[in-house]
Amino acid sequence: MSDIDDLEHSLRAAIDAAADEAALEAVRVGALGKKGSVSELLKTLGAMSPDDRKTRGAAINALKDGVGEALAARRVVLKEAALSARLAVETVDVTLPLWPSPANDGRIHPISQVTDELTAIFADMGFAVAEGPDVESDFYNFTALNFPEGHPAREMHDTFFFSPKEDGARHLLRTHTSPVQVRTMLSQKPPIRIIAPGRTYRCDSDQTHTPMFHQVEGLVIDETSTIGTLKWVLEEFCKAFFEVPDVEMRFRPSFFPFTEPSMEVDIRCDRSGSEVKFGEGNDWLEILGCGMVHPNVLRACGLDPDRYQGFAFGMGIDRIAMLKYGMNDLRAFFDADVRWLKHYGFRPLDLPTLFGGLSA
Ligand code: PHE
Repeated sequence: MSDIDDLEHSLRAAIDAAADEAALEAVRVGALGKKGSVSELLKTLGAMSPDDRKTRGAAINALKDGVGEALAARRVVLKEAALSARLAVETVDVTLPLWPSPANDGRIHPISQVTDELTAIFADMGFAVAEGPDVESDFYNFTALNFPEGHPAREMHDTFFFSPKEDGARHLLRTHTSPVQVRTMLSQKPPIRIIAPGRTYRCDSDQTHTPMFHQVEGLVIDETSTIGTLKWVLEEFCKAFFEVPDVEMRFRPSFFPFTEPSMEVDIRCDRSGSEVKFGEGNDWLEILGCGMVHPNVLRACGLDPDRYQGFAFGMGIDRIAMLKYGMNDLRAFFDADVRWLKHYGFRPLDLPTLFGGLSA
């Protein structure tokens, strides 16, 4: 039965020589597949005499089993070799330094951060956010806010005007966020409780003034709010914003055409050291203007001053950002100096929340 021995010999040689699993599979199909050499031999059994079948049959089946075992053993060896080869190629050096991702490199501008912080605080007190355009008409910026035509308070605003249109009307860059008060009262019914953060513009530039700056307006209109409510709201805001248990505030009489009475608010602080400390020291820093909404403004917005009342305030965002984060030159906010932003900016994933800490 040397033909069976020869076949076994050559099959075992082929199995040993198979370099990978695909080659081994080809050998298996060539031997044990439907038309494989071993299968063909098995088919010859039917035509044999019973004696031949006994001896040759046993030999062919032994060949089949032997080849099957050899195939399985070789498959294990090849699988292990393939895995080791992959592991060798795909090693990762976990000690290599990582490239910082853009999310690590980018910074949130302090003004954006502070705007988010104060929005979180006022939202917690039930205020919604309102918006208005940067390019305003004289009506919203002045007239509806009780600045009579030719009133000197108009001049104090150092307004940037656009060229007059054909009908003589001149648009302007809003000099404060107060026009959003008018837009809100004209489009919503009381009770109204909004803040309106945004850009404002005045023709002015020095260490504490830039031609473009930021304000946040606050407006509450209902039938019962008083100066007491206004004081409480501002005090709660300052404590939360400056993250101190107490702030001492000073309400000074002032003048705005759209509020009566009008006040300016200072907070007590200590600026003798390198950083500002709140609630101690002998310095006062002005942070906002406020007052009870003037009956003329309510009337201009179609509200009955005998029924409705309320208060408004306007705060310099850049101002309170400088105070809180110890920056001394306002102009740096708008220099777009990446080194400054890297130092004073905030990480994009550190979102201000009241429960997580505003500036955590
Ligand atoms: N609009 C005023 C300003 O820019 C601030 C202010 C707002 C005062 C609301 C009173 C009420 O100076």
